[in-house]
Amino acid sequence: MFDRPPTGQRAVLVHLQFPGADFESDRREFEELARSAGAHIHALIGGSRVKPDSGLFVGSGKADEVAAAVAAADIELAIFNHDLSPSQERNLEKVLKCRVLDRAGLILDIFASRARSHEGKLQVELAQLQHLATRLVRGWTHLERQKGGIGLRGPGETQLEVDRRLVRDRIATLKRHLEEVRRRRAQGRASRRRNEVPSVSLVGYTNAGKSTLFNALTGDRAYASSQLFATLDTTVRRLELPVGESAVLADTVGFVRDLPHDLIAAFRATLEESRDADLLLHVVDAADPERMARIEQVSAVLHEIGAGSVPSLQVFNKIDLREGEEPRIEFDEQGRPQRVFVSARSGAGLDLLRDAIAQSLRPAVDVFELTLPPAAGRLRAQLFESRAVRQESLDDAGQFRLEVAMPYARLRGLCVAAGVPPPPEPRVFEEWEVPP
Ligand code: GTP
Repeated sequence: MFDRPPTGQRAVLVHLQFPGADFESDRREFEELARSAGAHIHALIGGSRVKPDSGLFVGSGKADEVAAAVAAADIELAIFNHDLSPSQERNLEKVLKCRVLDRAGLILDIFASRARSHEGKLQVELAQLQHLATRLVRGWTHLERQKGGIGLRGPGETQLEVDRRLVRDRIATLKRHLEEVRRRRAQGRASRRRNEVPSVSLVGYTNAGKSTLFNALTGDRAYASSQLFATLDTTVRRLELPVGESAVLADTVGFVRDLPHDLIAAFRATLEESRDADLLLHVVDAADPERMARIEQVSAVLHEIGAGSVPSLQVFNKIDLREGEEPRIEFDEQGRPQRVFVSARSGAGLDLLRDAIAQSLRPAVDVFELTLPPAAGRLRAQLFESRAVRQESLDDAGQFRLEVAMPYARLRGLCVAAGVPPPPEPRVFEEWEVPP
């Protein structure tokens, strides 16, 4: 549809330092991202500027340096670790005579190769088209040729109009499909909730080992067979926990720093899974020197998508790469598991992780006020038998006023069975916290 140089894998990377940025760490991450997109990195060209050039982003001297590197080694692709405007991208392609990809394009490409579920694939295509649409609006050189002059403008559409319409139609179709997938997914969630199957979501920086852990925890035998799980997509599987409990485990797309905002929007539904989870497993690469910064970046994104208040358990993975690191659980001051050290590859610590998940999911006990009519004597007896009643008094109307401490789901079950309206559900969430 568009006149652009063909793309390939032989790449030069371009990364400029701007005041206040950490060049080394940004560069390392950039190389990692490019490699995970499948690029064969031929050279990394660095430089520094106070602010971007409006036409080429880099200065013209730097552009010539990149062009020389491209020409000398038959390079097919120049990847910039920055967000380029459509016209900068176009100008650079003219000067460099090879395909140019910016940071958002690179991240989109990685998402495209990682998208496993049907929904994920739809979302990637949608995000790619939306990214493309902004580049169509401002026009391409071959489109400008179509303008013609007075007397040449026919009744038909120009190429630009055709391109725009195709993209618009495809975006509309994708959105429709996505709505349908989301509706089905919401039904799946609702039925899981009715059946009180807790849901656990894996989140974490790209390359932390989420997928490896997902497979290690669920295994092949975990492929869902019962009706309950049949409508879920392939990235959700049953997770067996100790003492006959189970949960569903969802894998999500990996996070990266500075996720472009339109991408956050496009991936809303994938990440929605983590917003609605009962527990997040925040997977961290324990061997990554940047791990603490990564943890903060991931929690910042979780806050942005509204998942900041979901309880979480940190999983420090890849301990096999760290001398002397043993599988273990670290607890917080309230005695709840906070961090588990494992190796998804060797399997070390996975039993501890299952224990920690089960402990974290166990419903918290809350305190409720309950007013019972005299006829609800059986329920009152049950509550006393469960040792859940903390205080009791009689009001003027002869009703029992109880202060009851128990998990909400249990109390609601007892009330419903006795025909007594249950108290309102408490909404107590722990704020997301990054430990020092
Ligand atoms: P994205 O899909 O990019 O989000 O990555 P991910 O978090 O799903 O990571 P993935 O499971 O693909 O693992 C990334 C790399 O780390 C792979 O090469 C794994 O083999 C490796 N890996 C995962 N777990 C371990 C581990 O416990 N020890 C070691 N040494 N390597 C591991």
